[in-house]
Amino acid sequence: MGKKRRKKRTASTADIHELYELSVQEPEAEVDLINQVWREIRGRTCHTLREDFCGTAINCIEWVKRSGQNTAVGIDLSPDVLAIARKRIQQRLKPAQRTRLTLIEGDVLKSATEPVDCINAFNFSYFLFKTRRLLKRYFKAVYEALNDDGLFVLDAYGGSDSYLELEEDREVEGFTYAWETEHYNPITGDIINHIHFRFRDGTSLEKAYTYEWRLWSLPELQEILREVGFQNVTVYWEGTDEDGEGDGEWSPSRRGEACQGWVAYLVAEK
Ligand SMILES: C[S@@+](CC[C@H](N)C(=O)[O-])C[C@H]1O[C@@H](n2cnc3c(N)ncnc32)[C@H](O)[C@@H]1O
Repeated sequence: MGKKRRKKRTASTADIHELYELSVQEPEAEVDLINQVWREIRGRTCHTLREDFCGTAINCIEWVKRSGQNTAVGIDLSPDVLAIARKRIQQRLKPAQRTRLTLIEGDVLKSATEPVDCINAFNFSYFLFKTRRLLKRYFKAVYEALNDDGLFVLDAYGGSDSYLELEEDREVEGFTYAWETEHYNPITGDIINHIHFRFRDGTSLEKAYTYEWRLWSLPELQEILREVGFQNVTVYWEGTDEDGEGDGEWSPSRRGEACQGWVAYLVAEK
């Protein structure tokens, strides 16, 4: 049998959504985490999920694959990104699984949905709400959309490097993923991040994704979640391996580490 050939990637043929998925998305791990927090906090299995800012809806796809009882609703504003989501759903799900997944083109601040057990907002998308007033409005809308014992799971990033205007690179499958902070304003918390993709043949997709948002801190987020009515908010912090790198194991923590870069999850209980 011949060797498995690695796809030769170049700027003119690459699909930025595929590059994004390979670089930053981990639907299996994120669905595992949702199941873990449900076991630990509620002692039961969750079956109804709403994925806010769903983009290409890959968490919804993973969710309906996991169990025949699972249903998912994905919400995103962008018709273009939802068109890619529909393509992924067609390619990755069987017809019966597809009936358990609904996409809504709409604003998470305004879209009314049936009550669900769990809502997730991943890859920091709610950072787009740059004022406390707007963020509070969003968290309140999430609170209202949950069942009585529902959980809201969201992620956040931070660390000393996140306040610096620098770029970090990582090798992915045959290309380089770069995360840049172009600008950070310590007075407002406003931050501009870019994702660039660079290829072995010297071509690149600069600013493939740009985010102009606010770097919210964990204490601010916990306070605002409580202010809109969530009873309890837990931060899940990542464990470390023997080299001090994140090991993908998350546990409820009251003390984090003042490291250069971290990602954490918050779980807010209705
Ligand atoms: C940072 S991407 C995250 C995509 C995906 N959730 C992920 O984990 O990679 C942000 C997404 O939020 C969508 N978006 C921005 N504002 C929104 C809003 N008010 N309501 C719904 N979707 C919104 C954008 O169209 C974009 O697809």
